[in-house]
Order: sequence, then structure tokens, then C-alpha cells
Amino acid sequence: MPGWLKDAVFYEIYPQSFCDSNSDGIGDFQGIVSKLDYVKDLGFNALWINPCFDSPFHDAGYDVRDYKKAAPRYGTNDDLIRLFREAHERGIHVLLDLVPGHTSEEHEWFRDSCALEKNEYSDRYIWTDFCFRGAGNFGYPYVGGEAERPGTYLLNFFKCQPALNYGWLDADESWKCAMDSEAARSTIEAVKDVMRFWMDRGCDGFRVDMAASLVKGDDEKKTGTSRIWREIRQMLDRDYPECALVAEWSDPELSLRAGFHADFLLNVENSPYSTLVRDYQNHAGRLIFSDPCFTGVDPSAHMDYEDHSFFRMDAGGDILRFMDGYLKLYENTKDVGYISLITCNHDTVRPSYNLSNDELKLFYAFLFTMPGVPFLYYGDEIGQRYLSLRTKEGGYFRTGSRTPMQWSREKNLGFSDAESKDLYLPTDPAADAPVVSEMQKEAGSLLETVRSILALRHQEKDLQAQPNLEILYMERGELPFVYRRGGRICAVNPSSKKVSARIDEQDKEPIWQVGAGTLSGGIVTLDPQSFAVF
Ligand code: NOJ
Repeated sequence: MPGWLKDAVFYEIYPQSFCDSNSDGIGDFQGIVSKLDYVKDLGFNALWINPCFDSPFHDAGYDVRDYKKAAPRYGTNDDLIRLFREAHERGIHVLLDLVPGHTSEEHEWFRDSCALEKNEYSDRYIWTDFCFRGAGNFGYPYVGGEAERPGTYLLNFFKCQPALNYGWLDADESWKCAMDSEAARSTIEAVKDVMRFWMDRGCDGFRVDMAASLVKGDDEKKTGTSRIWREIRQMLDRDYPECALVAEWSDPELSLRAGFHADFLLNVENSPYSTLVRDYQNHAGRLIFSDPCFTGVDPSAHMDYEDHSFFRMDAGGDILRFMDGYLKLYENTKDVGYISLITCNHDTVRPSYNLSNDELKLFYAFLFTMPGVPFLYYGDEIGQRYLSLRTKEGGYFRTGSRTPMQWSREKNLGFSDAESKDLYLPTDPAADAPVVSEMQKEAGSLLETVRSILALRHQEKDLQAQPNLEILYMERGELPFVYRRGGRICAVNPSSKKVSARIDEQDKEPIWQVGAGTLSGGIVTLDPQSFAVF
């Protein structure tokens, strides 16, 4: 386990939209470098940068054309290496986004793979042996009619993203490669080579896209895919022991045992994550849809639901809808790795979609006082809004969460000097669009709350990643929710009423609070909409 993860707090940057240094309307590496002091001052000591490699950008860069070349629109490889150096000088670690499951259809491996003549890359992707045959009943989408060779190929996501070949758990047809076939082995070696390439140039690890997707026909336990990650982890432990691997898997019981150091809880089915910020239930109390980005259903256009999000004031939320699921995952994985809680990411609506700034303060205080390695998505520190926009680079519903960072009231809200019509995406047109420069001056703003809770986390070892969580008060449908982290006690009340609970603890003064709380005579009491750390 890389030691630096113990106190890591990540800031996710969608590079297109963070800061444009050369006035072409799109963010770039130099723009990120120019904001590293901002990131550091806020209390973040690690970055995750979404894919920044050469790509036709049909899926915002998750369609990689050349894994070893920085996308020219962001700069050169040397610029990226400089970013690593500048970050390290400020004590900031940098994760790149590794996309191992698929490439762009424009990757040269794929071009060669399409050829009729057998070559080194013929089996780098997953091809059936007949132009009218799909991949059987596994449900993988496939494309036919595009290549010279008389087969169809499997997709991992969009049409532009053919799946790389890591073999099949059960190679029960002649066109399927086994996991130990030469073709599957060479794909694994190619991915290791990409990882080594960037590690040797100064990156500190990877957020791994669709980490569970490698082996096809895998079983429920992801036996095949897990075997590959364990092998990769062995390489890292031997050659790059400080390299961090964070999975986009959302199943920590599997991913952490497969060798990942951390795994996100995401807005996917059966994940408790969304109940904190978007718990839309039908009248039978079932989660009907959690995130328009994931389901394509916009709750504001949907009448037949009630919102019971825990952090929404007086929505009647129940922390057990989150903690039941979370605690099971936590207990089963706390000895192996970390669970990563997120404010949101580039695939979800922003939390401000459903929560006010006062509600967000409590949500973030919770995220940043829980065990594991938390992530904040750029802009969430100011409550940047989700905008309703036409799709860009395969974003669809996700596009609204990918708009330019709002730095100031200057041109394009300080994001870029380009003509507004040339921006990658429009800035928030609202007169009251939140901006960093104003919130920095406002005591108690959301931004300043993020800064102070992160300062507390860095100062108090007990509030960092380690698995020292104990529940002190948690009752179905009741408030407050109270938990202990080593010598510290955290209590939250998202409702508009004063609440209290008996906990068997000594009197303590709050060392940090939003609103107000007391702990005396074995009773913890919280004012409306309060969070206190004692
Ligand atoms: C997950 C990424 O987060 C998302 O943005 C992307 O579209 C898919 N994987 C495909 O790579």
C-alpha cells in the first residue's frame, strides 16, 4: 500500500474545462499547473486527471488513439512531465486515467487488427470468425461490416471503443482466445508497458477505467479479470511500490482483493452512494432512478417520485439506506484497501443538482471525515451547477457536469480568454453563478468550509484513511447520525430541527462545526443543519 494514500484527498480534473492558458477555448496542462497552488491551498494533495492522451475524442478521451502521447490540445509529453514535477514540488501526487478495456477505433493496433492479412495485432481485439456472427448470448455489443477481415468485433462501450482482447474465462468456441493464449498475454504486456511508460515519467498511479471489464464471459466473482489485476499489482509492488491503483469498479469486495488500493462507490445499481444526495424513491420506497446521467431519466420531468436524499433538509432521509450497504463493504474490505467516496464525477450530475450549498457543506463534511480516500470533482467546492446542454464528445447527459471551472467574474468566468463562442462548453450564464474569487472572501462559504474540513483532516490523524470507524448512534429514520473515528466523534443533523441522542461518551468541546453542536452529560445535541466534530 503506497504510504501517501493514508492522508490523500483527491481533486478530479476534467482537463478540457479546468483552465485554458493559451486562449484556444479548451483547458490544458499549463492551465492546470497555474492552478496547483489553488488546489494545494484548499487542502488537496492528489489529483486525478481524466484521459489526456491522443484521441479523436468521441468519448471525451476515453477512446485512446495513442497511450504514450499527450493529446496535443493539452500540450506535449514534456508539458505533462512538467505538470508531474510542479505537482510534486507542492506535495501533490498525480493519477492518470488508464483505459485498459478498449481503445479508439483509430488506434493503430485496431487498424492493423482489421486487416485481412494476419499480423501482430490480428488478435489484439476480440473478433468472431464470420462477418454475420456476433458474440453469442453474452450480450456484448458488436460491429460488423467495417473491416476487410470477415468477422465482427466486440465493443466495450460506444461504437468507437472496440474491446481489447484479454481472453475469455471459458474459450468454448474456436474464435475465442483463452486467457493464457499468446494474444491475451500480449495485451496484458502492452498495458503493463503503458503503465511503466508513465510511471517512469513521474506519474504516481492510475484511476482505472471500467476495471472489471477485461476478461469476457467472466463469472460473477470476476475470477479472470481479478487474476490479471493481481499480476499487474505484483509488477507494481516490485517495481513501483508507491504507485496507487484506484478502480472504477464499484465493488470493493472484489476490486480490492484483485489488487486495487481503492475503489469508488459510484451511482450504479445496487450501490448505496446515491442515497446520500439523490434518493429518488417510488411510493413503495424503492430507489427508482438515482442519476439522470446513468438512467437518462430527468427527475425534474418525472412526477411520480419522492426525494428522500439523506443530506437534503427535511427530505425524511434515512442514513441506513447508505450505511447498511456501506458498512457491509467496509467491514469486508477494511483490512485490504480503501473505499473512495466522491462528491460526484464527470459521469454524474453534480451534487448541487439536488442540494443547496448549506446541504452540501454537511455532505462534504461527512465525506471528508469518513475512512478511505475521498475525491472531490472540480467545481463542486463552489457548488458549480449542472447545466442542461446539448451533448459534447459523447457526454450526453454527462455534458452538463463538464462545463468550465468558474474562477472569477472576468471574461468567461476566468476560465479562458478565447471568444465565448469558441469555448469547449459554455460557462454558467446565471448572474449568480458561483465563482472562486468571491467565495474565497466569504467566511463560511462552501469553498471555505471545504478548506477548513480538509485542514482538520490533515491535522487529525484519526480522521484520515485508516479503518477506525465505529457507529455511536444510528437509528432507522432518526437523527442525528453519530460516529467515532479513533479519538474524534463526528455528528450530523441535516434536518431543520434541533436533535439529540444519548451516547456513552465523556463531555467534549467541538473542534470543528457547521451550525452548532454540544456533547455533554452523555448527550450529543445538534442545532438544525449542523455537523460537529468533537
Ligand atoms: C467510464 C468513464 O468514466 C466514462 O466517462 C467513459 O465514457 C466510459 N468508462 C467508457 O470508457
